[in-house]
Amino acid sequence: MQPPSRRAVLGAAPLAAAFSLDDKPALLGGAPVRQAAFPSWPVFGQPEEQALLRTLRSGKWYRGNGSNVRRFEEAYARAIGARRCLATCNGTSALFVSLNALDVQPGDEVIIPPYTFIATVNVVLRQFALPVFVDTDPETFQMDPDKLEAAITERTRAIIPVHLGGNVCDLDRILAIARRRGVPVIEDACQAHMAEWKSRKVGAFGATGCFSFQASKNLNSGEGGAMLTNDEALFERAYAFHNNGSGLKAIGSNFTYASTGHNLRLTEFQAALLLEQMARLGEQVRTRSANGAYLASLLAQIPGIRPARQYPGCTLNAFHLFMFRYDAAEFSGLSRDMFLKALRAEGIPASGGYSPLNMQPFVKNTLNSRGYQRLFPEKTLREWPERTACPANSRLCSEAVWFTQNMLLGPRSDMDAIAAAVSRIRRHSDSLARLASA
Ligand SMILES: Cc1ncc(COP(=O)(O)O)c(C=O)c1O
Repeated sequence: MQPPSRRAVLGAAPLAAAFSLDDKPALLGGAPVRQAAFPSWPVFGQPEEQALLRTLRSGKWYRGNGSNVRRFEEAYARAIGARRCLATCNGTSALFVSLNALDVQPGDEVIIPPYTFIATVNVVLRQFALPVFVDTDPETFQMDPDKLEAAITERTRAIIPVHLGGNVCDLDRILAIARRRGVPVIEDACQAHMAEWKSRKVGAFGATGCFSFQASKNLNSGEGGAMLTNDEALFERAYAFHNNGSGLKAIGSNFTYASTGHNLRLTEFQAALLLEQMARLGEQVRTRSANGAYLASLLAQIPGIRPARQYPGCTLNAFHLFMFRYDAAEFSGLSRDMFLKALRAEGIPASGGYSPLNMQPFVKNTLNSRGYQRLFPEKTLREWPERTACPANSRLCSEAVWFTQNMLLGPRSDMDAIAAAVSRIRRHSDSLARLASA
């Protein structure tokens, strides 16, 4: 395999400008492109300290006697543009509450993408429903809308598209198919706080929208979640389910129950943090969005690097992750693992992201369990692996590279450094590939 030509590298200006073309990659003994750490996460200060202390001293630590959770729910519903917000103890429980409020039952089918965090499939399995995977559009890293309709059967009771990485799935097409087939959509927006589709925030388009406030997320209270909806009756069912089955008016007051349920409540401490973190969110969203777009424009100039594309309807990418595909053939056959190692040596933390969820042995084992064997026809379970094969996703999982959201919170020059590191690795990919095979 030929090393990339000098001309091709020069074509990537302005990347090369800041670094000499002959500089050695860090893995080959050169000085790393970057020594300084990227901005740390979370970002907090006095407002968070004071809010937590106020809550502590109030002695009101749960939503039954405090007001933080309710105030957060009102503020977040306003921020997203939904009528109702239910705060939950994490994003997984927001999805779990949604499935229950929508009456998804054992024996039903739920459509999900294979390129997502494990929680998206776990909640479906907890419901003893069949997860039906729809392949990924590798250009955008989102559920492929072209493949959705064929996955719907008379047993399909929900579709859970994920706005993966803060990018937005093709909402127009997914919602149109779901509407035509009478199937509710649960938006998994756990990674997409403040992302926009046609200038409206995601999470308010589906029957419900679910968010996570786990520590890595763009809005963070260590753990936490929220379910948004415009449907009042659904909200009431969700509220009861997250509150041990006690409906809206019953909290702490009696022992009669509207439904089955769990304790999935957010604490007053988490809500206090979230209210303060929300004050920082707008500025952070703008910074990530501008840096993400700039970095994409730089990396797109490098042959073999294809940043995740946005659908035209995505008017704001929240960049929980900066994702791109790496083509080893354009890097002298340098494996993705070696590329990641070389990047890290340059001071640029990077990972290869998810492995295919539909291929995880535990999913197959769950479907082989006694409960599933009783619930589903033998033919359905036998045909499941073929029906939910996702070849495009499997390939994507072997090519993907991720940067985390905090790396986009610094100055624009940080993006130049990232792009310079990638460019430098490509220039020296031949020597790096030889090092890897030595
Ligand atoms: C896409 C997606 N869905 C669901 C979740 C679950 O959220 P939590 O970790 O708050 O339970 C996450 C969190 O990582 C996620 O990224």
